[in-house]
Amino acid sequence: MQHYDVVVLGAGAAGLMAAIAAGRRGRRVLVLDHASEAGRKILISGGGRCNFTNLHTSPSCFLSANPHFCKSALARFTPQDFIALVDRHGIGWHEKTLGQLFCDGSARAIVTMLLAECAAAEVTISLNRAITEVTRSDRFRIDTDRAPVTADALILATGGLSIPKLGATGIAYDIAARFGLRLAGIRPALVPLTLAPAELTRTQCLAGVSQPVVALCGRTRFRESMLFTHRGLSGPAILQISSFWQDSTPITLDLLADQPTATLITRKRARPKAALRTLMAELMPSRMVEAFLPTSLAASPVGNLTDQALTDLIAALKTWCFIPAGTEGYAKAEVTGGGIDTADLSSQTMQARHVPGLYAVGEALDVTGWLGGYNFQWAWASGWCAGSVA
Ligand code: FDA
Repeated sequence: MQHYDVVVLGAGAAGLMAAIAAGRRGRRVLVLDHASEAGRKILISGGGRCNFTNLHTSPSCFLSANPHFCKSALARFTPQDFIALVDRHGIGWHEKTLGQLFCDGSARAIVTMLLAECAAAEVTISLNRAITEVTRSDRFRIDTDRAPVTADALILATGGLSIPKLGATGIAYDIAARFGLRLAGIRPALVPLTLAPAELTRTQCLAGVSQPVVALCGRTRFRESMLFTHRGLSGPAILQISSFWQDSTPITLDLLADQPTATLITRKRARPKAALRTLMAELMPSRMVEAFLPTSLAASPVGNLTDQALTDLIAALKTWCFIPAGTEGYAKAEVTGGGIDTADLSSQTMQARHVPGLYAVGEALDVTGWLGGYNFQWAWASGWCAGSVA
């Protein structure tokens, strides 16, 4: 039976980075993946240009039952470390917005870079390989649809449940649980929200309309754009807030994020004869005006309306509060929230506290980044930490 120092399950972002770090240390490394291609999520990420990190990465941009867990790894493998790697491979990149770094060209450059680094570190990658069983006696034994292999160290890097059609499975959770590790709060995150029929009757006709908003859930707020969909709401502001949303909690949207509550009063003073609908169309797309403005008021000259009525109208649009019907689920979720409980892992090495040689990295852990390159940074950092010691 073939024996390796390190077997990595999953040839995604975290698994490839762990393999590179271990291979560079002279470890004999095998990466197994059931997909026909390595790094499939990297390829489709960031609209095909891969938002590979975020300059403003800090532990506060991650959700976890233990918000301190990610600190050590993020401090030891930083966005600058990844940028240095990207630069060494001559990959052009730019900052799009809010510290988000994207490739100038295709995301494939990142996968090509990771595979070149794997080759340089003499890592073996075996694709189209189904994993059937993982056991441990004095070493790990990994049974697959081909010959089994053994390993001194096993790194779980098979990600979470989001986008099953890209090959996502819960195998990391199953293996972790079999070795006694606990699982925490697994749920779709960075996911579009669906609306109940009461709201949908108003918003369905707005599918495709985008608007800058402030989204609030509890004490968390994001100021970004939102997109109406046929079934509910999406866009960056909604994806961000969805990670914080729990069943039956309300979400509040400020649909006029850039406008003060008195905005219509100021406009009324300047143009009292203008129809309310006309002035509102200066604040939001006219399709939104038609959907949100009471029909009885739309044609009224603003001069006929009291300041209080105008204030109330704007105030209502700045505090649109609703309880989502649900989410679009793992089929549309950019990541999986929750995962392997970090209480059972070392934050320095990602090694299981009670199972020497077992490591877990990337999205499989209960560490979930905001939208904007944070999830890849976590994958690189956690993969790097495990690969540096395994
Ligand atoms: P990842 O999912 O990348 O890799 C897991 C690997 O394990 C896969 O290769 C899979 O085939 C393999 N695997 C799974 N089950 C297996 C099994 N049973 N047997 C064998 N192999 C198995 N993040 C970001 O920071 N910037 C961005 O631009 C984007 N964009 C983006 C777009 C879309 C559409 C999605 C769905 C996600 C993103 N993300 C993102 C999130 C990011 O892709 C994600 O957080 C990382 O890929 C996680 O890396 P991992 O290596 O942990 O898992």
